[in-house]
Amino acid sequence: MLIRRPDDVRSSEITPYRVYMNRRHFIGRSAKAAAAAALVPGLLSACDEPQRMEARPVPEPGVGSAGLTSIPQERDWESVRSELDESLTPYSDVTGYNNFYEFGTGKEDPARYAHTLVTRPWTVEVDGEVARPAVYDLDDLLAPHTEEDRIYRLRCVEAWSMVIPWTGIPLADLIRRLEPTSKARFVEFTTLMDPEQMPGQRRRVLDWPYVEGLRLDEALNPLTLLATGVYGADLPNQNGAPLRLVVPWKYGFKSIKSIVKIRFTEEMPATSWAVSAPREYGFYANVNPEVDHPRWSQARERRLGEFRRRPTLPFNGYGEQVADLYAGLDLRRWF
Ligand code: MTE
Repeated sequence: MLIRRPDDVRSSEITPYRVYMNRRHFIGRSAKAAAAAALVPGLLSACDEPQRMEARPVPEPGVGSAGLTSIPQERDWESVRSELDESLTPYSDVTGYNNFYEFGTGKEDPARYAHTLVTRPWTVEVDGEVARPAVYDLDDLLAPHTEEDRIYRLRCVEAWSMVIPWTGIPLADLIRRLEPTSKARFVEFTTLMDPEQMPGQRRRVLDWPYVEGLRLDEALNPLTLLATGVYGADLPNQNGAPLRLVVPWKYGFKSIKSIVKIRFTEEMPATSWAVSAPREYGFYANVNPEVDHPRWSQARERRLGEFRRRPTLPFNGYGEQVADLYAGLDLRRWF
């Protein structure tokens, strides 16, 4: 569900002005600090027993690898909260309860271990059926675009959910600038592969690197976001810094983190979860309370911080904006 339509939400309403004005500054400083930090001394499913990684000091909540990400002040969010029909999930939960298997399979592992990821400089390779293939520096790739703030529900297939204020660019804006060819029907995204920085990749939990994909029309839907921030500050590493996908009507595993490659293809991409457990995970993965995962009912969900489970909404509440994309498709078969 979009709490408010994107065109009703101005950045200045959601992002604290001070943080918004500082964002570019933070990015510039982060590159230098990350470089310095690097010199100083991390068949499973999202619900299996966590495997603990080697113990490391727990960083302060919200502090990214560069140690510069600001922690949003509670008071900055009061006006936003009062206008919403649901509560925002607290920053500490958004950044402290994560799935990012490259850093371990426990929910607290990403916040604990993702400081090893160096997020600047960062490049994104654009490849395949596209007029402008190249390896782009991330800041150059994003520079022509205007960032927006979006408050979206995130629904994990494990049946927990959150309400998160993201900052990012509409993926459609980037795709149009990159000019896919007439052959492009899908977009494939790949996460960084580097077991030094992502120690969870040393275990064959998944067939690394993590790959996800969308049909081109899904990628062009106005709801689909390439996120660079959360709560008006840069994305912490555990949330997929420096660039992640957010597809709010699909289960959270589609929202791939720390993207290094975007490829336009004729064929449906082989996505990590669908390859690892094809009976449990499909390519579409639209939130659907009527189709249970083989191990978990999808009818209800637990919003983080709430005691009672609430009913799950079809397409996570975004049906008005996206149901047309699937006309004629049997969504029971095409999980
Ligand atoms: N992306 C990568 N590269 N690795 C992952 O393990 N987990 C996915 C998704 N993106 C994952 C990923 C899952 S299962 C979920 S529910 C969301 O990230 C969680 O996003 P969050 O930790 O920011 O809430």
